[in-house]
Amino acid sequence: MLFKKVCVNLSSYFKIGLVPKKYSIIASVLDKPKIGELTEVKGWVKSLRIQKEFIFADVNDGSCAQKLQIIIPKNLDIDDTLTYGSSVHITGKLSKSPRGQLELLAENVTVLGKCVVLDGYPFNPRTIHPPEYIRQYLHLRSRTNYMAAVLRVRHAVTKHIHDYFSKNNFLNIHTPILTSNDCEGAGEVFKVQPENEETMKAMMQEGRNRDSVYFGAKTFLTVSGQLHLEAICRGMGDVYTLGPTFRAENSRSRLHLSEFYMLEAEIAFCDSIEKLQSFIEHFLKYLFVVTRNTNDADLYLIDKNNKAPSWLNKQFLTLTYDEARNILAAKGLDVSDEGINKEQELTLVDYCQAPVFIVQWPKNLKSFYMKESPLDGTKVDALDLLAPLTGEIVGGSLREDDYTKLEKKLPSDALKWYLELRKFGNIPTGGFGLGLERILQVLCNVPNIKDTLPFPRWPHNCDM
Ligand code: 4AD
Ligand code: MG
Repeated sequence: MLFKKVCVNLSSYFKIGLVPKKYSIIASVLDKPKIGELTEVKGWVKSLRIQKEFIFADVNDGSCAQKLQIIIPKNLDIDDTLTYGSSVHITGKLSKSPRGQLELLAENVTVLGKCVVLDGYPFNPRTIHPPEYIRQYLHLRSRTNYMAAVLRVRHAVTKHIHDYFSKNNFLNIHTPILTSNDCEGAGEVFKVQPENEETMKAMMQEGRNRDSVYFGAKTFLTVSGQLHLEAICRGMGDVYTLGPTFRAENSRSRLHLSEFYMLEAEIAFCDSIEKLQSFIEHFLKYLFVVTRNTNDADLYLIDKNNKAPSWLNKQFLTLTYDEARNILAAKGLDVSDEGINKEQELTLVDYCQAPVFIVQWPKNLKSFYMKESPLDGTKVDALDLLAPLTGEIVGGSLREDDYTKLEKKLPSDALKWYLELRKFGNIPTGGFGLGLERILQVLCNVPNIKDTLPFPRWPHNCDM
């Protein structure tokens, strides 16, 4: 096939690289210090010590966990609004202290924005505030070392996810946020319709429900992009998506959000649950290892006792649902008809001392799209991966690829398109969904999921 040449010589248009900035970011100043050179930084004063001849200011600009120590001679013309919390622009020369610490000897200090603590600034210098306290000030939370570190780890994890899937030739698909399906069938959807009455009136048609006026069908915020991924996978192979997901659960637990980010992958030609398990295990270990290396200082800042988990060098364990039930029963914990609960999940992880896959699930506990197990018609080839601290972090399955079996389980005619995927050039696929915030909890050792994202939403809470 002949491809028309569409490339242009980019370098003749512009040089690819960094956008030129007049000042330096602290991460690069610390990374590649240019001793003796005039350097400009901008950021926020994290603490201030006034001594006889000098003022010592620790400044951070969000680019890294470390602060740059600024030494300000007292004879410099300094604005008296230079306080803890203020934003500053500093020019000076870089030097190394006798103890080897990098310092910026200030020649000019400009306060860009003052910070009057007595006016209601909620954070004190050199104080570790509890996360529940910080959470009351969502709009100011990024000023705390704790939240800033979590957000940097979140950024890094997102990047590593994209790197991993890109390297493994997965295509990133933007699945829709507005959808007419409830993929998981659990009824945990948020309904979407216009707020504007004029629009509603203008679009209203005879015999149509109010909630179908705009799109012609009831429409929801997505609970999962899986069904859309499956459609693309059956034309293009391996695909993934990482985007916002919404669940209208009435849960205020430390593990649930109404809006969270989910990584979902759909693997083409995947015909065994073991293949899916080893993919997930390889990916998770990669994610933990690279992030622990790229963000060691952030992880330390979040929790000084955060150690590399021992399971990084071990194989994850696998239990069937029935085996898991028996283990729990032996500990006096009976599993109800609703399935394994959170406390029981954590008991299993504790018992295994490692992440554990639970496979071979009873059909009635799992979603319609999961493949009936060839070993036992009452079971499906599904998996949940349970991890320390959070319990379930991944849910996945092989997908039912038998047209007739799927047709019987299809929850609604609106999903005929999904059934039709099995009619034309069908392939076996398997996939999984991983909660980004739950993985951040495990990685950073953050007990409450609400502290893993900038603006958490949960029942009765949608501030800002
Ligand atoms: O087990 P779930 O519901 O699986 C699915 O949605 C599948 N369609 C995924 C797939 O196969 N493509 O959700 C997957 C993961 C859970 O294991 C959990 O980590 C996270 O999403 N999760 C939540 N995280 C935060 N808050 C909530 N309310 C969550 N519900 C699920
Ligand atoms: Mg699940």
